[in-house]
Amino acid sequence: MVDGPTLFGGSGPGIWRFRQALPFAPSVEPVSLGEGGTPLVRTGRFASGLGLDLYAKNDGQNPTGSFKDRGMSAAVTRAKTLGAKALICASTGNTAASLAAYAAKAGMDAVVVVPKAGVASGKLGQAFSYGARVFGIEGNFDQALETVLQLVREDERFYLMNSVNPFRIEGQKITAFEIFEQLHRVPEYIVLPVGNAGNISAIWKGFKELRKSGVADSVPRMMGVQAAGAAPLVAAVSSGNPLEPLKEPRTVASAIRIGNPVSWKKALNAIGESGGGAVVVSDEEIMEARNSLAREEGLLVEAASAAPFAALTKLGLPQGVTVVCIATGNGLKDLSDHGGEQRIETAVDSHSIAKSIGGRL
Ligand code: F0G
Repeated sequence: MVDGPTLFGGSGPGIWRFRQALPFAPSVEPVSLGEGGTPLVRTGRFASGLGLDLYAKNDGQNPTGSFKDRGMSAAVTRAKTLGAKALICASTGNTAASLAAYAAKAGMDAVVVVPKAGVASGKLGQAFSYGARVFGIEGNFDQALETVLQLVREDERFYLMNSVNPFRIEGQKITAFEIFEQLHRVPEYIVLPVGNAGNISAIWKGFKELRKSGVADSVPRMMGVQAAGAAPLVAAVSSGNPLEPLKEPRTVASAIRIGNPVSWKKALNAIGESGGGAVVVSDEEIMEARNSLAREEGLLVEAASAAPFAALTKLGLPQGVTVVCIATGNGLKDLSDHGGEQRIETAVDSHSIAKSIGGRL
């Protein structure tokens, strides 16, 4: 339970500073790599013309480069208290990298199941480096998750680490507390990419807990963003009907290439209860926002994480409101599609560089 007056007085690294809001006995030792406590950066040039007070919550600065570390720390801590041996997840890449790292830290085995094609090489490289067993399936994330869920049902050696594990959500809800603390207030809007729909549910839970404890007297509107070719949740929000799974989700943003988000009901609830919304962005819009963020803000995010920034012009937000976009993953994980000039220019000596640049500075 969140106790308003003492919530921000805790000590410990990252998310564990808010330990009183996490469901662990005091004797439990966290499995931590220093996750959470990421910067909230006010944007400048990128926001000019948008008329918004726009911030990026840079969760790419977590230990393995994505927001997944918040929930993974909590869920691996839980798995350790249960004496679990092998931890398993399906993933589009980031969950796999994160699970592999935290399992290594805890001295447990990690098994990750990914779509054989389309996972960013940096994320796979992380999973291998941290010592996970990596299985690739012919198919997409949704089929990988089905396979994992079946394995967990059939074989009790495996402990499930996808975001249906409630401890993942508990760790990820801390993002809301940090944003409140960094801004000294609740923003009017939170905008974030939606894949399996865990994070939107988690951050909404965090803000609701803040309000319930009396720390905050409002909650933000939760705005979910999906890529046009992988937008079953946006379709459900628009139609008001239950989510219709999409068989072949397609988008350049491989992290959110998901057709059957497992937490869709929770996401619909977060959007509905908060008075939020959901929109699609095209792959082109995603890549344009990714390049602009890098060049105008010095913020390098992966494609999925550029989606909320790409959506800002489509959300019809009132002028002057405070908006926090969640920059969910680090751009270093996937540099295969970085935009603009990619040509290394030949430098013979100092003169050739100066000559080549000429007056163009
Ligand atoms: N952004 C990034 C960078 C992600 O890796 C993910 C999900 C999301 C956004 C969407 O978050 O699933 O909670 O709605 N990646 C998962 C993975 C699916 O396996 O790494 P969500």
